[in-house]
Amino acid sequence: MHHSHGRATLGGKLSAVLVAAGSSVGLGNIWRFPYVAGDNGGGAFLVIYILCVLLLGLPIMVAEFSVGRASHRNAVGAYRALAPKWSFLGYNGVVAAFLILGFYFVVSGWTAEYMVHSVTGSLARYTTADEYKSVFENFIQNPWRPVLYTALFVLATHFVIAMGVQKGIERSAKVLMPLLFVILIALSIHSLLMPGGEEGLRFLFRPDFSKVTPSTVLVALGQAFFSLSIGIGTMVTYASYFNPDTNLRHTALNVTILDTLVAVLAGVVIFPAVFSVGIEPSSGPSLVFITLPGIFNSMPLSMVWSSVFFLLLVVAALTSTISLHEVITAYMHEEWHMSRRAAAWSTTGACMALAAVASLSLGVLKGWNIFGLTIFDSLDYLTANILLPAGGFFTCIFVGWRLDRKILKAEISNNGTLKFRIYGVFIFLVRYVCPAVLLLIFLDNLGLF
Ligand code: PFF
Repeated sequence: MHHSHGRATLGGKLSAVLVAAGSSVGLGNIWRFPYVAGDNGGGAFLVIYILCVLLLGLPIMVAEFSVGRASHRNAVGAYRALAPKWSFLGYNGVVAAFLILGFYFVVSGWTAEYMVHSVTGSLARYTTADEYKSVFENFIQNPWRPVLYTALFVLATHFVIAMGVQKGIERSAKVLMPLLFVILIALSIHSLLMPGGEEGLRFLFRPDFSKVTPSTVLVALGQAFFSLSIGIGTMVTYASYFNPDTNLRHTALNVTILDTLVAVLAGVVIFPAVFSVGIEPSSGPSLVFITLPGIFNSMPLSMVWSSVFFLLLVVAALTSTISLHEVITAYMHEEWHMSRRAAAWSTTGACMALAAVASLSLGVLKGWNIFGLTIFDSLDYLTANILLPAGGFFTCIFVGWRLDRKILKAEISNNGTLKFRIYGVFIFLVRYVCPAVLLLIFLDNLGLF
């Protein structure tokens, strides 16, 4: 394929892994995974989740990397260059990225607010679980505070994007990802040393398959897609900046392993704490914002642990919002021929407006419902349950059946310089297994089972 000149390229091997892992590792791992796992049986869910990641997530990530690097273009431009009829797949990604940002920025704003309140000590003033519950509910329903924190988060993301691919995205990933791992390991050690935490670890690591239902598999699959940032064009966009020597399979494998490791470690941090104070692990999306602050408060040095924990969430969220913002910015910049600066500001403005509405939909705009869901919940539902699986499904059909094999092989083998012994298995997964399983989740979401 021809290469577009003047386009940014990432540095060495490590950069590709770090930026892609920055996108994957996010609120999905630390906020969403523990409560979804808690709600779906713990250990058994983990086993099924890992199978989904390896059998479906990994091949789809390699497929998306190939599309991105073969075309050196944004998500829409990539499919347009390879097969014009398939550019709808790129549009699906740009729209999904925008809608995810609509609610993701809001939750990111909450993490920033909780970090600030941990540092100033005001979060440590309460004692009972009920108090923490009302603090959280009052906060998210407040008409301006969450909007303000959301705006700050949007601007922080904008700032990184405006610095460009190398100076912004690459450099921030190189600083933030190691920071994230250091914090996560420190918190895990702290959690493992806590008395009474064994029960939490048993819950996470000892599978009880009697709790598994067909819907567990489907929930695990949805979680895997969201967590790995696939089915949406993010990995296509990022891979378009990879350099020609990047080994796509190894990069995808490393990103997948890191992403899963962070989800498991988040469980190691959260479940022992939850069990040590006798709270149900299935307390839902508020696990991190209501349950945890209460637990931190009963520990020595509570302010330190809760500040560090919410800093971890802020860092994880930021590298993910950056990747979603870039999908839209790169699209506008390259397809609409706007300057990168104008494209970034347009994306920022649009995201700000949508996120403000999503935030207010939990409070003053509660009455604005779509099919009985608030705007916030419908953005989450529409993207995780419809747009991402649909994107993953059509990516498999495209890469498995339509994309010229020569292009695919050239990308995966770096023009014949790398051996890929299990290419046959890869193709089999992408052509048959992934689309078939994805079709099942889709039918399930339509309520057919
Ligand atoms: N993978 C991110 C997380 O787990 O929080 C969320 C996300 C980022 C989803 C980028 C999709 C995406 F394109």
